[in-house]
Amino acid sequence: MDKFLIRGGKPLRGKIEISGAKNSALPCLAATLLTGETVTLHNVPYVKDLITQRRLLEDLGATVLTPELRTHKVTAANIQTFEAPYELVKTMRASVLALGPLLARFGQAKVSLPGGCAIGTRPIDLHLRAFEKLGAEVSLESGDVVASAPKGRLIGADVSFEKVTVTGTENVMMAAALAKGKTTIHNAAREPEIEDLAELLNKMGARIKGAGTDVIEIEGVEQMGGAEHTIIADRIETGTFIVAAAITNGELEIKSCQPEHLGAVIEKLREAGVDIEELNQSTLLVSCCARGLQAKDVTTDPHPFFPTDMQAQYMSLMTQAEGESSIMETIFENRFMHVGELQRMGAKIEISGNTALVSGKTNLTGARILASDLRASASLVLAALCASGETLIDRVYHIDRGYETIVRKLRSVGADIERIKDTMAMTAEEK
Ligand code: UD1
Repeated sequence: MDKFLIRGGKPLRGKIEISGAKNSALPCLAATLLTGETVTLHNVPYVKDLITQRRLLEDLGATVLTPELRTHKVTAANIQTFEAPYELVKTMRASVLALGPLLARFGQAKVSLPGGCAIGTRPIDLHLRAFEKLGAEVSLESGDVVASAPKGRLIGADVSFEKVTVTGTENVMMAAALAKGKTTIHNAAREPEIEDLAELLNKMGARIKGAGTDVIEIEGVEQMGGAEHTIIADRIETGTFIVAAAITNGELEIKSCQPEHLGAVIEKLREAGVDIEELNQSTLLVSCCARGLQAKDVTTDPHPFFPTDMQAQYMSLMTQAEGESSIMETIFENRFMHVGELQRMGAKIEISGNTALVSGKTNLTGARILASDLRASASLVLAALCASGETLIDRVYHIDRGYETIVRKLRSVGADIERIKDTMAMTAEEK
């Protein structure tokens, strides 16, 4: 497994270009299954999860062309199977996004049930109950979810989510797009990725209103067609680089981002003493203000509040702030995997239930540490960038799932980071 070797203490300076949003590109690629015509997606980030999603589409029988690295032209005209196998689902939970489109267009779908993951159990019961509301029959057979629409087509209905779910909302939006009649989703997720997906679906001929609010109305259509769409900027990558500038006491110009999607993050970071200037609609200039960082409490919540996907990175920043901050995680039950690793670097953090108490400011020192999940890995990279000495981070395949060319981007602004390839694994594979 590859590792990162980071020699910390260097202020990051320069310009960073933000990639397309992984969490938007994943459902948009799944949406291509709703039509036999070609859907062209631009600004698809070149990250491991998207390669997996592409493989899923190809396994199902779709043709995926990439005339340019970040442009995918998908034609799902000859779908031969309706099944997302365990091998794919276990590496990427977002494969469950194939369920809604397959069920809607072909009246049948089989997707392996995702197991537990590092940040919690993450069930899909809410997706499945919503499909049942739309008239699907859903059963569990040998670890697979098998769903079918008895009369070949789903029927519009009122769906009320008891908990806000991002991929659940996306799955139902896609399923309802081709259902007979009207569907209303209550307590829908309001993430920018939901709006982006709705925009693509509407370009494909769907009739969706209200995406971005907690009530989404979908008037089902008989069929959908081809479209061309550009994926929004990755707000979590943007937030991670804002923290990178602040934690290293540097100055970064962050380009091709969409600050309007980061309201709660920018507000909290400003409160904590980070200088964030909007140079224009898509460029931020970030530095640390002269008085230094101050501890500020945060609670994660669904959009438009502070995202759980920025919790770990914020915690690394708080180790460098004066005072005590409390960080409450309300979305996932086991999302403090980075705490033990940060403690190995000298951070003073105590966990009490779903809250972490961080005492700052501490001088972090390099150590051998382990990445446990995608965002936790980002927080460890950030901590290593401001630590004294060398940090070796193992299992960085997690970060490759969602951050495009992170080593190259960080090096371009002065970070001392290198990827150490696991030659033992390569040799074994070559044999
Ligand atoms: C998405 C994001 C992920 C982000 C998360 C929360 C993608 C590909 N991933 O994940 O990066 O961290 O939103 O913002 O977009 N739940 C249930 N039953 C369900 C579905 C969800 O109990 O059927 C629970 C989950 O366990 C969790 C909460 O609802 O506690 C929110 O999860 P959800 O919004 O569904 O997360 P994902 O869509 O998986």
